Amino acid sequence: MSQASSAARGRRAERLPIGREITWGAFRGTRKFESPSELPAGYADMLVKILHAQASSEIMSVLTFRDYLDRAPTLDDRWALARVIADEMRHGMQVCRVLDDFGAPGKAVVAQVMAMRLGEAKMDAFNEPLESWGDLLAFMTLIDRVGDFQLRNFEEGSYAPLARAIPLMLHEEQLHIAIGVNGMRRMVSDAEYYGSAAEAQALVDRWYPRALDMFGHSGSAASRQAIEWGIKKWDNDEVRTMYVDEVGQVIRDLGLTVPPPDRGRRIA
Ligand SMILES: [Fe+2]
Ligand SMILES: [Fe+2]
Repeated sequence: MSQASSAARGRRAERLPIGREITWGAFRGTRKFESPSELPAGYADMLVKILHAQASSEIMSVLTFRDYLDRAPTLDDRWALARVIADEMRHGMQVCRVLDDFGAPGKAVVAQVMAMRLGEAKMDAFNEPLESWGDLLAFMTLIDRVGDFQLRNFEEGSYAPLARAIPLMLHEEQLHIAIGVNGMRRMVSDAEYYGSAAEAQALVDRWYPRALDMFGHSGSAASRQAIEWGIKKWDNDEVRTMYVDEVGQVIRDLGLTVPPPDRGRRIA
């Protein structure tokens, strides 16, 4: 903290334009970091780790979704899926470009992500097999929504190259979520489409615990440090609670039941 404060004093700037200033944590009121050379000790390691998980998730979505390009039930579904895959590939590329500036450790992560095979994602949810088109719909409804909350957590963060990448990604995640929810709504209400309300409930039951796990451990010290450095706004429990409120409403609006929060969980 004393190291952080003295670094902050050294960087104190007069009146920064909107969006250029760090707005929370130890560096509040100073200019956002533009390159790894400006970061306080430990910050780069943490950011590379966070971006590794992010890049791995984006790229693994491509690897798992692509099998359905010729299996999604309707032409519209196939077109929507092609669009989602292109978006996820670009998200992966955007995150890898940020990583690339972090020298050997960043480049090693990019190489690892490029070499990744099914089942090797950093986050468990991305290693779950997608056994049906319904799994993809539930994935976009529940897991892409976790991605959306994680990006919101990084929005306006203290590392400027990442902060600049977030708005377009957030916009596209909203589209992926809408594709998932609309598909699930049709499962529940349109007998001509695909699946049934009972199948939709089983999908919610399958993916809800994986979604809640993705926010990480309660009371994580790393997550407190990330907030202090301005990388994240909220700790794991805060953002999980926000997610539970939002997704709970969506599940109820579909006429389905929200599973108990501790059922099937692997991370407490
Ligand atoms: Fe994404
Ligand atoms: Fe997405």
